[in-house]
Amino acid sequence: MTQSLRLAEKGLFVPLNDGETYFNYHWLRDACPTAIDPQTRERVFDISSLESGPVAAAAQIDGDTLVIDWAHEAHQTRLPLAQLQDFADHGRKPDPADLPRKLWYSDGYDSFRRVRQADVTGTDEGRAALSRALVEDGVALVTDMENSDESLTRLVNSLGPVTPSAEGDHFEVRLEIAPTNLAFTAGPLEMHTDLPGEETAPGVQFLHCRENTVDGGRSLFLDGAAVAKALREEDPQAFDLLASHDIPFFYRHDGWDYRAHQRVIELDARGNVAGVTLSQHLQDDIDLPQDLLDDYYPALCKFIRMMQQDRFLCRFRLNAGECIVFDNHRIVHGREAFSAESGARHLRGCYTDRGATWSTYRTLAAKGITGERMDRARAA
Ligand SMILES: [Fe+2]
Repeated sequence: MTQSLRLAEKGLFVPLNDGETYFNYHWLRDACPTAIDPQTRERVFDISSLESGPVAAAAQIDGDTLVIDWAHEAHQTRLPLAQLQDFADHGRKPDPADLPRKLWYSDGYDSFRRVRQADVTGTDEGRAALSRALVEDGVALVTDMENSDESLTRLVNSLGPVTPSAEGDHFEVRLEIAPTNLAFTAGPLEMHTDLPGEETAPGVQFLHCRENTVDGGRSLFLDGAAVAKALREEDPQAFDLLASHDIPFFYRHDGWDYRAHQRVIELDARGNVAGVTLSQHLQDDIDLPQDLLDDYYPALCKFIRMMQQDRFLCRFRLNAGECIVFDNHRIVHGREAFSAESGARHLRGCYTDRGATWSTYRTLAAKGITGERMDRARAA
């Protein structure tokens, strides 16, 4: 049993759950399953090759499928109605990595997901648990890390390829005689995200604690999305300023002059807070109009002060054998000062892309491996 559809000049109307829903002909022709090569899974149809643009000659519903016969080419398109309903409902393709962010506060440390290194590098369930924690919480702890130079790279590669920075494929956080970065001193390190002076700041950061016997030097972590959400509720004007203007950051040393503009509060496609970028020690002279700064600076200062509040800040000691993994565009981190004479502190750091991490989760989730079994086993 078929049902003919109402055709318009540039598109047609499909009966969906909320009534007749309009779809553009170009979009429908491009969405035709025959446009994708089954071998490479890439698009092999060139819509610009249709001289007059696609127009339906006839269209009907056949069971659970939309069937279109095109006017100027001998071609039929068959599209599952469920696919059109998904677009009508969400405005985009369903994405297994599009999971709600779980905001966390000062008591978040106990609930950070913990996964053993061998489970991440050796099992799909472990990889899924770690990558999903990064999507949802923006942070996780990998435990039982092997103490070797190769250990961290192996862990990173289970989520994605290493993203190099100015420091190279990895960096060592320990005392240096001529430091290139405040991290490489014994002083306190104010709350920041890493390397906003790079065109695209590193996505996911790994800090593998190889040794930590010093007095002090507790790690400070907070969920920047939670602080930004609180700012939005408490001072919407300040929030809007930080979410709508880019400010300059740098990373300069002998032979380096990185510069980039970033937005302090990043929003996602739905207008929710996706993350934050903040680093006073790598912030350049702000080049917004001076009269705008009359309002921008107080908003920025308020946001930075909020990041020092007990309601948001987690303070904990990173132990040898642990690796903290976090979304560098969402999680803000710092360190208390430590006594350099009291012992040794050595972290090895490395980055990978958020895109690679989300990709890892999607491919595992498509096979039904979400890491939730590991979460349940841990909770039991
Ligand atoms: Fe850092």
